[in-house]
Amino acid sequence: MESGGTAHGPGPLIVRALGIETSCDETAAALVEADESRIRLLGQKLATRPEESRALGGIVPELTVRQHLELLPEIIQGVLSGERPLEAVGATAGPGLAPALLVGLALGKSLAWARQSSFHAINHLEGHIFSPFVSRGKWPEFPHLALIASGGHTLLVDVPSASQRRMVGGTRDDAAGEAFDKLARMVGLGYPGGPEIERESVRGEAGKIQLPRPMKGSEEGDFSFSGLKNAARLLLEKKPEIAQPGTARAHFCAEVQAAIAECLADRCRLGLRRTGRKLLTVSGGVSANQAVARALEQVAQREGANVLTPVAGWNTDNAAMIAAVTARRHLDGVQSDWQSDVDPRWSVESDQNRT
Ligand code: KG4
Ligand code: ZN
Repeated sequence: MESGGTAHGPGPLIVRALGIETSCDETAAALVEADESRIRLLGQKLATRPEESRALGGIVPELTVRQHLELLPEIIQGVLSGERPLEAVGATAGPGLAPALLVGLALGKSLAWARQSSFHAINHLEGHIFSPFVSRGKWPEFPHLALIASGGHTLLVDVPSASQRRMVGGTRDDAAGEAFDKLARMVGLGYPGGPEIERESVRGEAGKIQLPRPMKGSEEGDFSFSGLKNAARLLLEKKPEIAQPGTARAHFCAEVQAAIAECLADRCRLGLRRTGRKLLTVSGGVSANQAVARALEQVAQREGANVLTPVAGWNTDNAAMIAAVTARRHLDGVQSDWQSDVDPRWSVESDQNRT
């Protein structure tokens, strides 16, 4: 990118943007360099949940916030190399855990102030929507339909343009990743459950054990996974031997994976038909699952659409996607207010806090 000049000199505008992510249990920072035609990751660092929380199988807010407080400064230092210009700083302002978000937002504002950079409060979900594109070095294309499937969210969003996002469907109960995590736990597998179930499924076969596909075929756009969880619980009460390591457990995992993949693909089929979009993107931890990716490919092909998934490493929560949205905002000449606050329930549709 040396040839084009700098943000302060003649030639195309180039921005170096730092992104900070502390919405949940990842403490992360990333640095990107971007211009109108492309975006490049210069570096990123990430620490995941404290060991104590992992052992407890869930998030312990105080431990998570302490991790952010202790690790974020050195993580940021680790990705900022020397005194080179830093045009923009962005931090996730929601949705997420309020005290966790506050750590990243406060540090991000201070850094932007000290380095005289623009400051940006970023919506975590918009970061996910960017990730399939920016992980390939390019800016999002519009229009498209975006599936976000993670441990905290399962949303299908119509994205007609850079400034418009409309919900097609959301989950009525558990998120898809949460369903993977809970079902894995029921059969004694570790956290995060998605990768564990994917590994275990390799030795099993879907259909040997039958579990329901909630909402499949419904004309409503929403997702639901509690029926799957309850059916699995009843089955395991009747046949506890399935939870023991062995072939039955592998069949169980393969069936769970197939059920979740089919539910996600079925809602995407409905969304593609409703919106007429020809590009389906998928992001969030569950998008790393190969069975999910295959099911989405099949549905999209039947609807005449293409599928774009993030490059490996960009599926789960990361700060690179936050840095990318930050760079985009800076290139668009907008910035957030210094008074901007966190919004733990910030909707994917809302542009509140955006500029
Ligand atoms: O996007 P993410 O890092 O965090 C949230 O925002 O929640 O997603 C984590 C979730 C976990 O529930 C995890 O089980 C799931 O993504 N996950 C997977 C896979 N890798 C991560 N689910 C299915 N298959 C995978 N390979
Ligand atoms: Zn996320």
